[in-house]
Amino acid sequence: MTRLPKHIAIIMDGNGRWAKDQGQDRLFGHYHGVVSVRKIVEAATEIGIQYLTLYAFSTENWDRPEAEVTGLMTLFVDTIAKEVPDLHKNNIKLQFIGNLNMLPDHAKKALADATTQTAQNTGLTLVIALSYSGRWELIEATKSIAQKVKNGELAVEAINEEVFAENLATKGIPDPELMIRTSGECRISNFLLFQLAYAEFYFTETRWPEFRKEHLVEALLQYQSRERRFGKTSAQVQ
Ligand code: IPE
Ligand code: IPE
Ligand code: MG
Repeated sequence: MTRLPKHIAIIMDGNGRWAKDQGQDRLFGHYHGVVSVRKIVEAATEIGIQYLTLYAFSTENWDRPEAEVTGLMTLFVDTIAKEVPDLHKNNIKLQFIGNLNMLPDHAKKALADATTQTAQNTGLTLVIALSYSGRWELIEATKSIAQKVKNGELAVEAINEEVFAENLATKGIPDPELMIRTSGECRISNFLLFQLAYAEFYFTETRWPEFRKEHLVEALLQYQSRERRFGKTSAQVQ
């Protein structure tokens, strides 16, 4: 318990294949994925994780068939409306990162309401990456830095890692120490490109609808068995 990551990021993958394996529609998998979200949020709270970032929908996912995109949007809005009272009761602070302008108006409103309602909570910070892409975020940060330089608010020489991080959507949130991806794919699919620079990666075959607390604990134990050297030698870090 003394060597827990502060921040865990998860690429929740494999809903579609999980559903297909049981002869069901992809959306059936997404609905079951929500159950996993609830269980993992509970587990993370119980274990004492401070930040949990969940990749729910990428910018690239907009290119999926229209019925799946519409179904997912409905699922997001309904789930947020349904879960916010419980999240709030559990002192969880909700945050959304991504190009939220691309979302339909009713979804934008649901997210804004959930963010405001839970803003003062001091327990787990639950970050949902929605319509998110790491490259989009880096470009937005670059634009905002360029604008500050242009306005004379920031000197070019003053731009460093901290300044850059402050211009990201994850401003104020420490980098994830552990990144988990379910369903056997070993790639980051445009997730948190800047923030994952030194994260430990954990890939599991388990598909997201089947991911439970015991799988999270397994990932944490694996994380704790690793030596994080940050470029130094083993002797130096010991
Ligand atoms: C992850 O599951 C959820 C989203 C990307 C929205 P997928 O929908 O990618 O499921 P697979 O990878 O096709 O099985
Ligand atoms: C990444 O999963 C995005 C989310 C889990 C939200 P994808 O299923 O979209 O990624 P690729 O296409 O397999 O890389
Ligand atoms: Mg996938």
